[in-house]
Amino acid sequence: MSLLERDKKSIWHPFTPLKGSPEPLPLVRAEGVWLYTEDGRRILDAIASWWVNLHGHSHPYIAEAVAKQARTLEHVIFAGFTHEPAVRLAERLLQILPNGFSKVFYSDNGSTAVEVALKMAMQYWYNLGLKHKKKIVALDGAYHGDTFGAMSVGERSPFNAPFDDYLFDVEFLDFPACYQPFCCGGKKDKPQRCGQVAATLQRFEALAQTGEVAAFIYEPLVQGASGMRMYSPEILDQLLHIAQKHDIICIADEVMTGFGRTGRLFASEYCLHKPDIICLSKGLTGGTMALGVTACTERIIEPFRQEDIMKTFFHGHSFTANPLACAAANASLDLLLRPECMSRISAIAQAHLDFEARIRDHRRVRDVRCMGTIFALEIETEQQTHYFNEARHHLYNYFLDKGVLLRPLGNVVYVLPPYVITGEELQMAYAVIEEMLNEPAKTSDTTHNNAPGQQ
Ligand SMILES: Cc1ncc(COP(=O)(O)O)c(C=O)c1O
Repeated sequence: MSLLERDKKSIWHPFTPLKGSPEPLPLVRAEGVWLYTEDGRRILDAIASWWVNLHGHSHPYIAEAVAKQARTLEHVIFAGFTHEPAVRLAERLLQILPNGFSKVFYSDNGSTAVEVALKMAMQYWYNLGLKHKKKIVALDGAYHGDTFGAMSVGERSPFNAPFDDYLFDVEFLDFPACYQPFCCGGKKDKPQRCGQVAATLQRFEALAQTGEVAAFIYEPLVQGASGMRMYSPEILDQLLHIAQKHDIICIADEVMTGFGRTGRLFASEYCLHKPDIICLSKGLTGGTMALGVTACTERIIEPFRQEDIMKTFFHGHSFTANPLACAAANASLDLLLRPECMSRISAIAQAHLDFEARIRDHRRVRDVRCMGTIFALEIETEQQTHYFNEARHHLYNYFLDKGVLLRPLGNVVYVLPPYVITGEELQMAYAVIEEMLNEPAKTSDTTHNNAPGQQ
């Protein structure tokens, strides 16, 4: 039986309809930005495999660190025990994170990092006996993961509709920037002339004044899954200012934006006001192993540091602080903090800006935006910009047929590559996008019935 047949018999893939989806591509190996298929093709991974890969696939330095760790201490229960890779990683993260974070709590992925952050914030007020501080505020369009807490603070959408009755209430603020080109008489290059921003700030102020808001959770500067929507540090600073004025815990979900994605090590660095809690995953291990981190400030820890055992944070996972994952993360940090990696990040950011300038006025471009190593392009179609815009089927297949993995979010095509991508490889990704823009065929072709999934 072929690998594909065996897969079909036994595996349920994530974000993939069980009917009508294209078959998964069997891979045999991956190196740098290239994925190698069983049938001899190579595919350029221009989205860093769900935004996780920083240094290229199968990086020998990370592989060696993981192998060495596997021969030394592969795993141990993290309650009552500790180990060097976890301690070293925590120390290093606390040094580079923006703001005076004081402790790191480990978990398994981005969703669990968010769950931990929410639970920490909720229990903070509980431990202080301030039980009226219960409301959570989030941004419209947010995506924070697929576990129940993370779904609750995410945009209510068809993805979580079956669970709607089980999600807790959250106050959602309108996204504080307008990217509709012709809304409010604005132009493509003046997206923030919309009165929406002022309304969002006013609403947040009114909610904050009730004294009931426990926490504000946000993806700083770039909302990934909602279509790489971007908003400015100035606006985020105004939101954080309101939160901090009213003693609201600020939770930055940097699961996607962390580790250089936005051009700086963390997106929160662009703001004057810093979060109290920060969530990390994806690039944390360079994309090699599953690991989540929730870091918090001394202020958050204080109400947990008590004689009363009932004030303990009763949370943990079997694989908390897995030594192999921590070793991968330490190795990834070594690579990330090298000057050559930081200059690759700058080079990618500049290349994105140049490409943006080149295609900005193309008739099929509804909007185009960049932030650091993230480039996003809204394709003009008859439908509005949305994940369920039917253009995605055609776009996904179009790019894959040309040997480039780009996984559009509806009609939003984005490039978010591993940092090791060369200038030439980056131009290959831009070239297929430009070819698509110039092709006469419609991207809103709805005859393909295969869904590429959420992100
Ligand atoms: C901002 C953000 N938070 C949380 C998550 C969830 O991370 P994971 O898929 O590792 O659970 C994601 C995943 O895309 C994300 O983009």
